[in-house]
Amino acid sequence: MLINQKHYRSIWLHPDHPGVVQTFDQRKLPFEVEIVDIESPQQACDAIKDMLVRGAPLIGATGAFGLYLATLLPELGEAENKLQKLSDWKEKLLSTRPTAVNLQWALERVYNRMADCLDADEMSDTALKAVQSILDEEVAMSERIGMNGLELIREISRRKGGAPVNILTHCNAGWIACIDYGTATAPIYLAKEQGIPVHVWVDETRPRNQGARLTAWELGENGIPHHLIVDNAGGHLMQHGMVDMVIVGTDRTTRQGDVANKIGTYLKALAAFDNQIPFYIALPSSTIDWGIRDGIREIPIEERDEEEVLFSEGWDGARIHRIRVTGTATGAVNHGFDVTPARLITGLITERGVCPASEEGLLSLFPEKISTSPPGPLS
Ligand code: MRU
Repeated sequence: MLINQKHYRSIWLHPDHPGVVQTFDQRKLPFEVEIVDIESPQQACDAIKDMLVRGAPLIGATGAFGLYLATLLPELGEAENKLQKLSDWKEKLLSTRPTAVNLQWALERVYNRMADCLDADEMSDTALKAVQSILDEEVAMSERIGMNGLELIREISRRKGGAPVNILTHCNAGWIACIDYGTATAPIYLAKEQGIPVHVWVDETRPRNQGARLTAWELGENGIPHHLIVDNAGGHLMQHGMVDMVIVGTDRTTRQGDVANKIGTYLKALAAFDNQIPFYIALPSSTIDWGIRDGIREIPIEERDEEEVLFSEGWDGARIHRIRVTGTATGAVNHGFDVTPARLITGLITERGVCPASEEGLLSLFPEKISTSPPGPLS
């Protein structure tokens, strides 16, 4: 994607320093565009936990890079039980954020590829290749999601006689949350490229304002018409015919099509359902947890620090300020995600096509997963 007309992925290996991973500090966007270095597995853990990086695919990629950086630790070269040491780092990286399943998927993939390696050098070569393949696959999946979602936008545009298609999105499932293109935003960028008029309603997404700070910025950088709305406005806009479709991302989608995404997604789905507005989830298959069915009972929901709710951040033209938004006697509860049940979802936009949010729907696109049935009952 473009920043000031220059193309970037959201994470990459420093071209001259194989021990340095680079990414954007998302905590400072859009006010300051700062590229930061991650040079150790501990720094990768901290970056994920503190949300310097965020968004399911990027969390997975950062975790994978973290495991690669662990292979470069001097103490690994001397260690007898290299795989055990790497397994410890894998667990540490995995414990940073619990909801996005991409982290587990990416860590397992890098770790498993190192199982037969003979020494630390072979481990780091193998890990780096595995990381690069994850990055390239994520980009390819986002591109395919874009093409598949584009057809849904094109159809609505046709029905509206070419009038702008109004798309509501929540949180940030854009380029900066993925590796490139984004998931929910990929069809929007493609629609614009193809001359289909689109307009995006961007939920601000309290408490961390990923919509206001990241999605709105990305759309602006890429010339997509958009307006910011407060988190509670979507239902009203839907009642008044101002939303044609909703597209959001996901951190974990179960085998039966239940979807965990940023807190507030469920309320948007309820409002869309009540107003017969199509509600789509854009997801790479790295976000599907084939091992569970019931999202409400089985997806771990991250609880973050109350400070994120009690305080808000803004820019005064010179620097970012943090201010308290409530009296000092008030505490807060801060669940990071909620689960939208499959019955409220019109369809899942994957890299292999669009399917109903159901086990049958997902298995029709991913038949190789038929044999990997989870222990729970069919519901
Ligand atoms: O807490 P965050 O900002 O990591 O949450 C991100 C989201 O909920 C995104 O919508 C989701 O990860 C999809 S990103 C393609």
